[in-house]
Amino acid sequence: MYLTPSEELILNGEYGYTMQKAMEILVALGDIYNADRLIPIRSAQIAGVSYKTIGDAGLEWLSDLNGTVSVPSMLNPAGIDRARWREFGISEKFAVKQEQIISAYEKLGIQTWCTCTPYDIQGDLARSGDHLAWSESSAVSYANSVIGARTNREGGPSALAAALLGRTPNYGYHIDENRLPSIAINVEGELCGTDYGALGYIAGGIVGSRIPIFSLESIPSSDERKALGAAMAASGAVALYYVEGVPPYPDAYSVEERVTIEEHEITDVYRMRECDPDIIALGCPHCSVAELIQLRDLLAGKTVTKEFWICTSRVLRDQHPDLVAEIESSGAKVICDTCMVVSPVCERYNCMMVSSGKALSYVPQMCGVDAVLGSALDCVRVAAR
Ligand code: F3S
Repeated sequence: MYLTPSEELILNGEYGYTMQKAMEILVALGDIYNADRLIPIRSAQIAGVSYKTIGDAGLEWLSDLNGTVSVPSMLNPAGIDRARWREFGISEKFAVKQEQIISAYEKLGIQTWCTCTPYDIQGDLARSGDHLAWSESSAVSYANSVIGARTNREGGPSALAAALLGRTPNYGYHIDENRLPSIAINVEGELCGTDYGALGYIAGGIVGSRIPIFSLESIPSSDERKALGAAMAASGAVALYYVEGVPPYPDAYSVEERVTIEEHEITDVYRMRECDPDIIALGCPHCSVAELIQLRDLLAGKTVTKEFWICTSRVLRDQHPDLVAEIESSGAKVICDTCMVVSPVCERYNCMMVSSGKALSYVPQMCGVDAVLGSALDCVRVAAR
């Protein structure tokens, strides 16, 4: 990969240890993927925040870094709700380690929102055509497929390196010819809400890491596209997809395979596993304001009798205190900075009901807990019966 003279200086250590290590990571990636050069990015989104996932080794590595990010940079969810962790029985040791990780990132100038939906907080972090270095797979899919920006599925270290240098290697989804669909998926039946997570759960297994283009009977909302992309990124490795008739949309393309997903295949995902939920957790990816409003309306006048989590960002929680108070008057908990997958709390339960195709994939794998899928309405019915 070609480096400019100033990039060579960084690689040679002229700008210190941290910048040198960051450049080494990007050069290694660029060489592996045959990138021609580094390109500027608009923002970075960095995964690898929960103490549950990165542990002491990750904390030690982060603590050795010094420097300041060159572009707006945000963190993925952590392992705790930073304000309420005691309520959830998190140990003091875990909380202290978690705060040390967040402080290490903050010292580098990174925003500590701890959310997988930063686009719901600040729209100008990613605009159509922008190059980004984002690492949360659901946010990558949203940035590429809904916003029309360009990012590869970065790992935590490569996103952090890109944040520090303000650049990323030019390969993969940054390049036009790598952004064309190669498989067409015709979906039968009209979908709504969680159905898109169920569709993504099935489609990700079919598509793998290819780029699908969907033919759908109705136009999904941005939250439904968020759910579809998140699920495909978890059951497959999809980073970009298209929906016919919905921008952004490729001008000309030809596919090598066509498949149809029938209506019953989507309803089957709801019945795929059976267990009696002892926790209900929504907000994977983190809830938008529209999703919080929908849950408030579904919960109105009801009292939940099971643990009921609604995950969102702290910024949205703080901006909408009345909405949060109305939701929490039902007994449900609006949880911030973390989620049902990266928090260690969920491992204490046996069966989790989720409204997300991504959580349906990840909760059994990463928490060792059975998971069943339900619509938002199903989740409220199960919790309040
Ligand atoms: Fe976000 Fe956690 Fe789901 S990071 S996408 S809520 S697994």
